[in-house]
Amino acid sequence: MSASSSDPSVPVLTIDGPSGSGKGTISAAVAAALGWHLLDSGAIYRAVGYAAGMAGLDLSDPEAVTRCAQNTRIAFRAPKEGGPARVFINGFDATDEIRTETCGAAASAIAAMPAVRSALFERQRAFRKAPGLVADGRDMGTVVFSDAPCKVFLTASAEERAKRRYKQLKEKGLSVTLATLLREIEARDERDATRKVAPLKPARDAVIIDSTSLTIAEAVERVLGIVRAALPRHATTRN
Ligand code: C5P
Repeated sequence: MSASSSDPSVPVLTIDGPSGSGKGTISAAVAAALGWHLLDSGAIYRAVGYAAGMAGLDLSDPEAVTRCAQNTRIAFRAPKEGGPARVFINGFDATDEIRTETCGAAASAIAAMPAVRSALFERQRAFRKAPGLVADGRDMGTVVFSDAPCKVFLTASAEERAKRRYKQLKEKGLSVTLATLLREIEARDERDATRKVAPLKPARDAVIIDSTSLTIAEAVERVLGIVRAALPRHATTRN
C-alpha cells in the first residue's frame, strides 16, 4: 500500500492515552457523533500479538514478529445488527480473544519493536478516508497522524483506570483482583512510556483531558467541543 492511500485533506482527530483512560469508548462515541471512520490501533497491535502467539512465535524475536505483522490479515467489520466492529484475524473472528490481559501484554511487548511499528504504519494511515477519521492509540498524534489538525491526549489516574477495567472484567465474569490489575496497568504504562520508539506521550499540540472525574458523556462533549473549535467546517455532529 502506498503513502498516497492516505488523503491529507481528510480531517483526523487523534485520541491518544494510556489503557483505561476511556479512549476506546470515547473515540467510538465521537466517531459516531461526527459520522467519521474509526481506527482502533490498539486492536491492530493486539491482533499481531495474538497471531504471533497462535503461531508459537518467540515474542522477543523481532524478525519473526515483524514477518507476522506483515503477513497477518486484519479486518474490522461492522456487525449487521450494529455496535462495535468485530476484529477478524486471517478470517477468524478474534474480537473477544484479543481483549484478554495476556493479549494486551503481548501487544505491548511486540509494540516496542521498531520494525513491527514500521510494518503497521501504512496500514494505519490507510484508515484516513472521507469524511474524517478518529484515530485511537498511543502514537496517533505524535507519529502516525502527526499532521492531524486536531489532537487529544486522554488520561486518568492509574487507580481509576484499574477500577474501570476491574468492573469491565467482572461484568464478563472473569476472576481478577483490583491490586493485580493496578500492578499490570502500571507495568504496561511504564513499558509504553519508556520504550525507545513512539513512546506514549502527548503530542506538543495535543489538548490534555483528564477523565478521572468525568462521565463518558462529559468527556465526549469536551472532545467534540475541541473538534468544533478546530474544524468548524467539518465537525457537523449527527445528533
Ligand atoms: O489500546 P490497547 O490497550 O488495546 O493497546 C494494546 C497495546 O498496544 C498497548 O499497551 C500498546 O503497547 C500498544 N499500542 C501501541 N501503539 C498504538 C496502540 C497500541 O504501541 N497506537
